Amino acid sequence: MSIAPMMDWTDRHCRYFHRLLTQHTLLYTEMVNAGAVIHGGTERHLRFNAEEHPVALQLGGSEPADLAQAARLGAQWGYDEINLNCGCPSDRVQRGAFGASLMKAPQLVADCVKAMRDVVDVPVTVKHRIGIDKEESYSFVRDFVGTVADAGCTVFIVHARNAWLQGLSPKENRDIPPLRYEVVRQLKADFPQFTFAINGGFTTDEAVQEQLQHLDGVMVGREAYHNPWWLARWDALYYGEQGGVPCPLTREGVELAMVEYMEREAAQYGTPWAHIARHMLGLRHSLAGARIWRQVWSNHLLKDRAAREVYHLAQQAVAESLANHQEH
Ligand SMILES: Cc1cc2nc3c(=O)[nH]c(=O)nc-3n(C[C@H](O)[C@H](O)[C@H](O)COP(=O)(O)O)c2cc1C
Repeated sequence: MSIAPMMDWTDRHCRYFHRLLTQHTLLYTEMVNAGAVIHGGTERHLRFNAEEHPVALQLGGSEPADLAQAARLGAQWGYDEINLNCGCPSDRVQRGAFGASLMKAPQLVADCVKAMRDVVDVPVTVKHRIGIDKEESYSFVRDFVGTVADAGCTVFIVHARNAWLQGLSPKENRDIPPLRYEVVRQLKADFPQFTFAINGGFTTDEAVQEQLQHLDGVMVGREAYHNPWWLARWDALYYGEQGGVPCPLTREGVELAMVEYMEREAAQYGTPWAHIARHMLGLRHSLAGARIWRQVWSNHLLKDRAAREVYHLAQQAVAESLANHQEH
C-alpha cells in the first residue's frame, strides 16, 4: 500500500500523521521541483521526520542532470525511493515540459531515470498515467513502460486514467478522464517481471483487495487524506500484523500523539499548530460530533493558544455536542 503524492497535502506533518495510523504503508512526499531542491533551499524541501520511513521523494523535472543532482540530495537526506512525476497535468508543470507531458517523450524519461539511477542506490520509480489527451491505444503506454524499463526502472505506479492536457484543470483531470484499470492489468501481464502499483479512485478494502489479486500494490490518494482512519486497518489487512486483527489504536490516542508532535514542532521550529492540524481534520470522519471537532481544530481565532488547550476545547465541544444530541 502507498499514499499518493499530493501537492500541498502530503507534507511532512501529514506524513507523520499517516505514519501513526499505519507503520508499513509507503508514504510519498508532495512533488518537489528538481530545481527547487537544488537552488531553493534543500533543507526546506527535503527535511522530514525519522518516523516517516519508508518514505519516497517525488521529483518533478525533465532535465536529466538536474534530476540526478536532486535525486542524489534526496538519497543523502535518507529517502527510501526517488520517484519521477510523469502524471501531473497542471499548466505550470507542462510549461516546464514535465509531469504528464513527459509521457510524450519516453526516451527523455528513460534518460532521466538512467541519470538518477547512476547516482543513487535506492530505487528510482516512475508515476505516470495510461495516456495523454484522447490517445487511448494500449501500445502508447506499453511502449512508454518498455522504453523507461530499458533504462532500469522496475517499479511503475500507474494512475489508471488519461491526462487531458487541454481544457481540464488538474482537479478535473483527477475525475473526468475515465478510469481504465484493465490497462494496468494488461501492463502487468506483458511485463510480469516488473512491479506495478495501481492508483485512482480507491475508497474501499474490497476494491483494494480485488486489485491486489492481480497487481503488486495499490496507491490511495484522496480517500486516505479525507478518511484517514481507514489507514488504521491497513497494517492488519495488508501486512499481516497481529494475525490480521486490527491494532489497538484509538482516534483519541492518535489525536494526542499529534498534540505531542505539535508541541515538539512549536518548540523546535516555531511551527504553528494549525499547519499540522489541518491534515488531521478527517480523523473523526463520519462520527457524531465530527463537525464541531473539526471547527475547533480549524478555528483561526484560537491560533495563539497552545495546541493542548485547543485539544481540550475540541474534546469538550464533542462531549457537549454528544450530550445535546442525547437530550434530544
Ligand atoms: C491535492 C492533490 C495534489 C496532488 N499532487 C500530486 C503530485 O504532487 N504528484 C503526483 O504525482 N500526483 C499528485 N496528485 C494525484 C494523486 O497522486 C493521485 O494520482 C490522484 O489523486 C488519484 O488517486 P486517488 O483517486 O486515490 O486520489 C495530487 C492529487 C491531489 C488530490
